[in-house]
Amino acid sequence: MKPLRHILTLSDLEVEELKSILKTASKLKADYKQGKHEKLLDGKVLGMIFEKMSLRTRVSFEAGIFQLGGTAMLLEDKHIGLGSRESVKDVSRVLSSMVDCVVFRAKRHEVVEEFASYSSVPVINALTDKSHPCQALADVLTIKEEFGSLENIKIAWIGDSNNVSASLVEIAAMLGLHIVISSPEGYRFSQEEIATLTQQRQPGFELEFIDNPKDAVSDAHVVYTDVWVSMGEEAEKQERLERFASYQVNAELMKNARKDAIFLHCLPARRGLEVTDDVIDSPQSRVVAEAENRMHAQKGLLVWLLQD
Ligand code: CP
Ligand code: NVA
Repeated sequence: MKPLRHILTLSDLEVEELKSILKTASKLKADYKQGKHEKLLDGKVLGMIFEKMSLRTRVSFEAGIFQLGGTAMLLEDKHIGLGSRESVKDVSRVLSSMVDCVVFRAKRHEVVEEFASYSSVPVINALTDKSHPCQALADVLTIKEEFGSLENIKIAWIGDSNNVSASLVEIAAMLGLHIVISSPEGYRFSQEEIATLTQQRQPGFELEFIDNPKDAVSDAHVVYTDVWVSMGEEAEKQERLERFASYQVNAELMKNARKDAIFLHCLPARRGLEVTDDVIDSPQSRVVAEAENRMHAQKGLLVWLLQD
């Protein structure tokens, strides 16, 4: 029996484990592109709980496990009533008896933690209000493919200090990357959050906070943004749109990055707000490759977690 592991944040992995997952992901992607579909997870079943909307996460897990010989079932919250029809504890214990792994997109990170504490099968965080570890795996895979290596790479994050940027800071620390965060006042990580995210920092890791987006993207290999209003923050919409207005990634801003810089966005994007069409549709944009890499990255993670 494999020891039970949950991936609720990237800090649940050791640095070497993270590197090994990324390596497996790249290999599985290369195999897949050559038409090789080894059934490494034959007969394995994923239960996928989604309390929020999703395109990429759901499809990439479902397609990924299928390619590996397994299957997935979608458990929408409106059907299972997690915490309302039935306690988190009971849902977790029952699912553990029938599936090999649970993929969980939750409104509150604490609920995934509670769920995992009762689960006897691995639980993977498929996005919470605090983190999005699977996204960061795909992001570094995309960056490595583009630049051939992750050494001396500078990432500029423009926008909200949110779930996606939290996992990006975490993976940057673990892989020794340089990351610059440019967020408006009131939307920045606390010292405590930064300390938690950078616990496993490796040589080469550098974290800067630069308020002016133009200065933040200077010399950056990667310019990355996300929505200004994440799922669950709709009540703050008006205030956020005003506060983030000068943090738009547009063609003018991209001119300040390296000539060979790429643009990333976890998607879905609000075109015309955090990013303009002329950037997201430009030759510098890698957003579709990044989305595709969700599937390859998660296949690496699933094989690492579940292969007998
Ligand atoms: N990037 C991402 O997680 O997309 P979905 O919300 O569509 O799954
Ligand atoms: N920050 C966004 C990411 C969506 C993939 C959200 O939480 O809505």
